[in-house]
Formats: sequence, structure tokens, C-alpha cells
Amino acid sequence: MASALGDNYNHLSPPQQELVKILSENGQDHLFRDWPGPGVDDDEKKAFFDQLIRLDWSYPGGLGAYIKNAKRLLADSKAGKNPFDGFTPSVPTGETLTFGDENFTQFEETGVREARKAAFVLVAGGLGERLGYSGIKLALPAETTTGACFLQHYIESILALQEASSEGGSQTHIPLVIMTSDDTHGRTLELLESNSYFGMQSTQVTLLKQEKVACLDDNEARLALDPQNRYRIQTKPHGHGDVHALLYSSGILKKWYDAGLKWVLFFQDTNGLLFKAIPSALGVSASKQYHVNSLAVPRKAKEAIGGITRLTHTDGRSMVINVEYNQLDPLLRASGYPDGDVNCETGYSPYPGNINQLILELGPYIEELSKTGGAIQEFVNPKYKDASKTSFKSSTRLECMMQDYPKTLPPSARVGFTVMETWLAYAPVKNNAEDAAKVPKGNPYHSATSGEMAIYRANCLILRKAGFQVADPVVQIFNGQEVEVWPRITWKPKWGLTFSLIKSKVSGHCSISQRSTLAIKGQQIFIENLSLDGALIIEAVDNAEVKVGGSVQNNGWSLETIDHKDTSEPEALRIRGFKFNKVEQVEKKYSEPGKFHFNA
Ligand code: UTP
Repeated sequence: MASALGDNYNHLSPPQQELVKILSENGQDHLFRDWPGPGVDDDEKKAFFDQLIRLDWSYPGGLGAYIKNAKRLLADSKAGKNPFDGFTPSVPTGETLTFGDENFTQFEETGVREARKAAFVLVAGGLGERLGYSGIKLALPAETTTGACFLQHYIESILALQEASSEGGSQTHIPLVIMTSDDTHGRTLELLESNSYFGMQSTQVTLLKQEKVACLDDNEARLALDPQNRYRIQTKPHGHGDVHALLYSSGILKKWYDAGLKWVLFFQDTNGLLFKAIPSALGVSASKQYHVNSLAVPRKAKEAIGGITRLTHTDGRSMVINVEYNQLDPLLRASGYPDGDVNCETGYSPYPGNINQLILELGPYIEELSKTGGAIQEFVNPKYKDASKTSFKSSTRLECMMQDYPKTLPPSARVGFTVMETWLAYAPVKNNAEDAAKVPKGNPYHSATSGEMAIYRANCLILRKAGFQVADPVVQIFNGQEVEVWPRITWKPKWGLTFSLIKSKVSGHCSISQRSTLAIKGQQIFIENLSLDGALIIEAVDNAEVKVGGSVQNNGWSLETIDHKDTSEPEALRIRGFKFNKVEQVEKKYSEPGKFHFNA
């Protein structure tokens, strides 16, 4: 390739020349073909090398390793090789929880205690193409009763855990890492800064930006040049699996370990229910001493969500891993189960559905990463032009997934899962209104509409379990999606971090009608003999203790349908298909410490 570069070669720095050598050895001569001599396009050429150096630096093993891995994976893909060849699936062991029972409550208690040794990692580098929202997903309101965005809700949940966990002991600061990408970094930082980090100390939050990887033009893994600019390589996201290498190379894991931390909890950008499952799941990790604990939900056989599976190889290897639903069924059929993935006596598949929230024990995690550098097994998914599989419709790239981390673990690793009821733990916002409306009946929409309604539903079911009389939902259609509309109950995470805490704040005979809205924005708000038919908003500073009761009746907040195409409405509302008309409410605000009683 030095010759393809001509005189340009002599103008390169030694590291640049070294990179040219590696690229040449890996069949990348086309990158520099027909380059004009020195003096022409020099700035562009420099930018090209800057990009190459960045791509080389950000991939474990550098660009040479990337191209070699790509060639191997592309050849396997062309040959139709099954990555699970030689593996037999079986049902792994884990813990199945039922919300509110004694077991659950005990795990919650343990989890809250352990939280002082926890660090959180939020993967938020995704483009969100399926949702198609113009902002970052973290800035979307999780629900529109309070308007709190996902990031605010997450941070307040972590702060609530931090406070509950510190009780009686020294104050801890639970660290939060947010993995961003070029697509989300600036806007994530701005969201944090313009909201004073939603109450966290800015030093508690670390942003780690993932880099994109080079695109590939063909089965020879030739790097794809940007059609608009011969001095630029096309790049695309590498997937959330990058989080492991980034955490490792940043040195933060070691810092956490030295500070006595024990758990790392990974979560995603738009699941408004997740923190209802975190305390108990962390309790499971601690009690069962799981090195890896995957959060899961019951899964109907063949449902389009990955199944957590134990895979045992003929050579003795064994792992507990997420198997995508379209691979699980054929794998079972090929392994002596002629019916493939079928429901068992519980009415669900014995392979629980992976929701991609992981709890890792820090010590074994660091030990493993010191062997792998955080590299996660990758895959490639080229869209071929035809059956000959010789060329692609558009360039492809290698990808990796966070949940594939256990693939390299030794068989001695303790890998388990925690199954939670879906209503409690999982309602992501991934799909735009049009696509969600096309989801086959009975399958989850995973839209902004269903994500918000799921929060009300979960809060209602939890309060019911705590003895609150909550009216049944009505079914309504928004943006072509049929959803259950429950009373709009919301609370701050610090009010209701665990079920025991919630039970301690609700007493007597309480009831709420279907059309009602109840927002509890304070820590020490106690609901006693309250009957609500309308809207009630109670806000109180932490050291104001407020008892709320009596009968509240007003015209409340009505739900109005809007169309997702109606551009006169804000995008964050359009994508849900509804908005609140705040006709009338009782709103009480306690901004001074003290004891108060609100009796309507
Ligand atoms: P999703 O599956 O929701 O993918 O990612 P996405 O890229 O955000 O959305 P689509 O596929 O374009 O519609 C699950 C989680 O992983 C993060 C996302 O931000 C989300 O929290 N993610 C995804 C990353 O951090 N980096 C990536 O490269 C991809």
C-alpha cells in the first residue's frame, strides 16, 4: 500500500505508517488508491488518518483485529454457519418472584441494604431509529402526569436507593455511568447540566462515549468509504456490548472495587418500570451470590423476545445466555424437542424472556475483563443482494450486545436470572406509533403510549395490593393501539421505593375512581382514609410530614385523544396519542418542615 500512497507515504508519522502497514496486510489497499500527491487535499488526508487512528484505538486489538474478526464472521455468515452448532439447550435455574409476597419483601430489604455497594450503568448510546423521536430517548417524559423524563426518574430512583441504603450508616454516593455515543452525548450532557443533574452531585455521574465502528463493503471485509467523501470511512454503531470494554478501559471499575463496591447494575434508556424490580433483583443477586443475574419476565413460547437458556456443548462448555427467539425454536427442534419452544404447565415457555437488565458482581467481572479487555463476542448481519451471498445491499458492520458478556465465562461462574411479572418490571418505549399499531394483537406495543399506561397500571396494582381500593381500568384506543387506562397514579421514587415502604404510607379505607389523577410528590406523605374522584396533587419537602385524607371530588384531568400526525401538538405528546386537559384539581404544596394534616 505504501506504493499506492506514493510520495504521501513519506509525509506520514511513524504511527500512521504503522497503521498503513497493518491495513495493507489486511487487504485494504483500496483505501488509498489514486490518492493525489502531497500538496493536494492535505487537510482531508490528515482528517482521514485522524479517523483511522481513532477507529484503531477504540477497538480492542485495533483495526487489524476488527478486519480479521469481520472476515471470519462474514465467511461464517456466507456459509450459513449456526453459532449454536454443537450446543444443546436446557432450562437454567433462577429465581421467580411474585410481587408483594414474603419472599419478595425479603429480597427487597436485602437489595436496599446492598445498594450502598452498587454502581449503575445506563446504556444510552442508541439511535432509537424504531421510535423515531427527534430528541434523545432519555429526555422523553416517562409519563405525562408529572412530565418527569426517563433520566430524571432514573436518577431520582438511584437517589432514593442511596438514601434508604445509607440509613443508620455512613452516607454513600451511588455512582452512575451513562454510556453515550456521538448521536446522544451532547444532548445527554445538556439535559443533565440544565437540570442540575436532577439532584445528583455532578461528580457522581460519568459519561463514557462509545465510538462507532467501520462499515464493511464486501465479504473480504474491505472498509467502506463514504460515497460523498473519499477521505472518510463510513461508520455505524457497534451496539451496547461496547459498554464492557469502555468501563474496563476507563479504569472506573477498579476505582469502584477499591472503594468497596460490589455490584454493577446495567439498564436501558426507556423502561419506566425497571426500578420497581431493582431492589428485589439486587436482593436475589446478593442472596444467591450470582456473578451474573439477568432480569427476565415470563415469556410465551415463540414470543419475540430472547429466552434465557443454558447451552451445553459436546466439548463440555456450558453457559447461561440469551438466545434470540428466532434461534431458540430451531435450536430446540434440532436438539430432540420436535415441537421446539412450547409452553409448559405454567402456561409460559420454560425459557424466561430476557429484558436486558443485568446485575454483575464487580470482583468476578473485573477478573473476567482483565482476560478479555471487555471484548464481547460479535456478530454480523449483512443484507445480501441475492442468494449467492456475494454482495450486500448496503454496507454492514460488526455488532455486539451487552447481554453476551457471559459467553466467555468459565463454567464455574454463577450465572442466574430473576423472573418478575411483566406488569411490574418491563415496559420499554421503542416503537413509533405507526409500527406499534401494526403489532399483532396480544403482543406488547412497546410504544410511548403503552409505556406510560404501564406505569399507571403498575402503580394501581401495587396500591391495590397495599389495600387501596382502585377502580378497574377502561379500554381505550390511542394511535391505533388498544390499551388499558387505569387511574393516573404516580409517586416520587423516594415515596415508594419498596412495597413495605408503600404499605407503611397507606392506611384506613382509601379509594380512587377510574377517571382520577393522584400525584404524590414527597417522601413523608401518608394517605389515610382518602376517597378520590378527580385530581389531587400533593407536594412536600422531605422533612414535611403530611397526612392526606377525606373526600376529594373535582372535575379532574380528562384524557384527550390526539393524532400522532397532528403537528400542532408537541412531539412528546403526539407519539402517545393523548394529552391531559387539566380541568380542575386540588393541589397542595408543603415547602416548610413540620407536621401537617390535609383533610378534604
Ligand atoms: P435498543 O434495542 O432500544 O436500540 O437499545 P436503539 O439503537 O436505541 O434503538 P433502534 O434499534 O435504533 O430503534 C437498547 C439499549 O441499548 C442502548 C440504547 O440506548 C438502549 O438503552 N444502545 C444501543 C447503546 O447504548 N448503544 C448502541 O450502540 C445501541
